[in-house]
Amino acid sequence: MPAAFYLSPEIYDLDINGVLMKHWQCVTHVSAIPEVGDYVVFNYDRESAIIVRDKDGEIRGFANVCRHRGSRICESSGKAEGGMLICPYHAWAYSTDGSLAHARMMPRTLDKSTLGLKPLAVKVVQGLIFLSFADEPLSFDDCEANLNATLGAYDWAGAKIAFQSTISFSANWKLALENQVECYHCGPSHPEFSVVHGQSSGSEKKLAQMMNAKAEALGVDITITDQWAEKARPGYELSFSDRFPMSGENVCTASRDGAPLAPRMGKFAAGYDNGQTVAYVGVMNHFLCYGDYGAAFRYTPKSVNETELAVMWLVRGDAVEGKDYDLDELTWMWKVTAGADKRIVQENQIGVSSRFYTPGPYALPIEQKTARLSDWYLSALSKAISA
Ligand code: FES
Ligand SMILES: [Fe+2]
Repeated sequence: MPAAFYLSPEIYDLDINGVLMKHWQCVTHVSAIPEVGDYVVFNYDRESAIIVRDKDGEIRGFANVCRHRGSRICESSGKAEGGMLICPYHAWAYSTDGSLAHARMMPRTLDKSTLGLKPLAVKVVQGLIFLSFADEPLSFDDCEANLNATLGAYDWAGAKIAFQSTISFSANWKLALENQVECYHCGPSHPEFSVVHGQSSGSEKKLAQMMNAKAEALGVDITITDQWAEKARPGYELSFSDRFPMSGENVCTASRDGAPLAPRMGKFAAGYDNGQTVAYVGVMNHFLCYGDYGAAFRYTPKSVNETELAVMWLVRGDAVEGKDYDLDELTWMWKVTAGADKRIVQENQIGVSSRFYTPGPYALPIEQKTARLSDWYLSALSKAISA
């Protein structure tokens, strides 16, 4: 795309408020807030949400904005003291269901029932907690079906977070995503990834046949769908999934040498299919499933030239660190790969800032998803401008 789409603060503002804000975001996994009162805070541009486990065990989302004078209530993750979320400013206290429980020194006649925290839409699918800041959220039905068909085979609902980290890219969110959806760069930029993934091997077709035969022998039938970009139903969140083979018969997972890293998950209890499943939700969330671990990725724009990537590693719920898996080995591949992505995307940002930059041709079909992303974005932006 022309440089202005990566550099202009005005376009960035339209991106956030006209294009991105209505989409669902994956906040975390349920294992991050196992107990009643546990909460996490999710910040997105000017918005902030509290996602809390309520007394009945349900997970609820609220705008992190006090109904007194508007202070942010919770700064980061924590536990509701005595079951209350307490505003640090004047100590109004909210229950974990969002209702206002106590308002210090206010008259008894105060109608607390009108001063609860504003609720936000939350969906929990396969253990992942999704949140929307929209007044009228996009339907999550296609995503829910897709996640159940893909992540469900690996039982992400029964998984737990082994590790999570965030990486800051000094680049516009579109450059981060354009990079993320194509594997044209995998060969030159990700040697560690390319050793064990079949995407850039040239023999992907043959490897895919092997993956499918192995999956069938295991009794694993993963339905992939494409409700993304031009194929999405109007009013529905974008949803997409795919399957890719690993690079060889003995390559079980994304580790240094393809050897297993953690206990096998879900339907893979009996063995590996030497494949990988990927699912996308909306624009900024994608989920990679291997037979023994998962990796969830979320991009969050921070400014016109800063984007945060949050990565969450998931293992089977009963796996024990140090006994069933080594954390350094488990996280090695995607730390190395995300670190390389940060480097190439930042160099890309510097390049497109030059007056000599003009957009070049895509390599098709391998950059098809990047072309598709650009088409989707330009059409979403023009709709936002004319709305
Ligand atoms: S702003 Fe929260 S109690 Fe006053
Ligand atoms: Fe990459």
